[in-house]
Amino acid sequence: MTFLYKADPARGEQWARLFAQKAPDLEFRVWPDVGDPAAIRYLAAWQPPEDPARTLPNLEVVFSVGAGIDQFDLSGVPAHVPVVRMIEPGIVEGMVEYVTQAVLTIHRDLFDYGLQQQERQWREMPVRAAASRRVGVLGLGVLGTAVLERLRLFGFPCAGWSRSPRTLDGIECYAGTESLDAFLARTDVLICLLPLTDATRGLLNAKLFAALPEGASIVNVGRGPQLNQDDLLAALASGQLQNAILDVTDPEPLPASHPLWTHARVRITPHIASATRPDTAVDVVLDNIRRHRAGQPMIGQIDRSRGY
Ligand code: GLV
Repeated sequence: MTFLYKADPARGEQWARLFAQKAPDLEFRVWPDVGDPAAIRYLAAWQPPEDPARTLPNLEVVFSVGAGIDQFDLSGVPAHVPVVRMIEPGIVEGMVEYVTQAVLTIHRDLFDYGLQQQERQWREMPVRAAASRRVGVLGLGVLGTAVLERLRLFGFPCAGWSRSPRTLDGIECYAGTESLDAFLARTDVLICLLPLTDATRGLLNAKLFAALPEGASIVNVGRGPQLNQDDLLAALASGQLQNAILDVTDPEPLPASHPLWTHARVRITPHIASATRPDTAVDVVLDNIRRHRAGQPMIGQIDRSRGY
């Protein structure tokens, strides 16, 4: 029985070491060294190989090495093979750190202080109380929920929006399209942690920005195509939006000539907000394999009709 890893080879070596320690009975291989394709029962990948139904005939489970699954071509994965996205403590911790720094950067005026520094200006600005800075997260999955639970501790009024109703302690929860505008109207810092689907592609556009209070800021840690970058530039120019922190862009990498690169009120990072940590991810994958063998539901198993 073989586990095949098909993603970054350096990380693959870390996975291989961890599998050798924790699951010595399972043969572990790193793509393209597949060995006997008929022995492969489990595949972990950022992108599955072409036509897995034919090339890996005995595949039982496909694991995404990422939290998001939109980059995956699921069409070649047979319908009876469950697909599991990565929900593991390391990726959650990384995202909580990244979004916390983004919200605090905006909240403590570091965009403005950065501009002042360029002018060698020593000038203090009034500090706004966290209680008056309303934070809102689009997407109440594992990541969105963890982010809100941490931000709440700073005293920010916290809300979340999701497609289906959720209840979370100390967090105002909004659900469904009909409540989106009410959620946006109370949100000074908007964080996007939605999965990329047909319904969320282009969601962060001029219409949505207009529903936010004037001078709101956005943080996109979802997927680049969720944001209309031209609308963002226009909203920053008009002052409807004040700042944007983007970890994802469309395309990636963002072309060198793109105006977002040099915009004083935009900060860009190269899709590094959070990544799977091999040490914690391998435990979660092995636990899911145990669950699968015992006929139990796996953590992070996606609903292919929903796309996440
Ligand atoms: C990264 O973007 C991921 O989906 O894990």
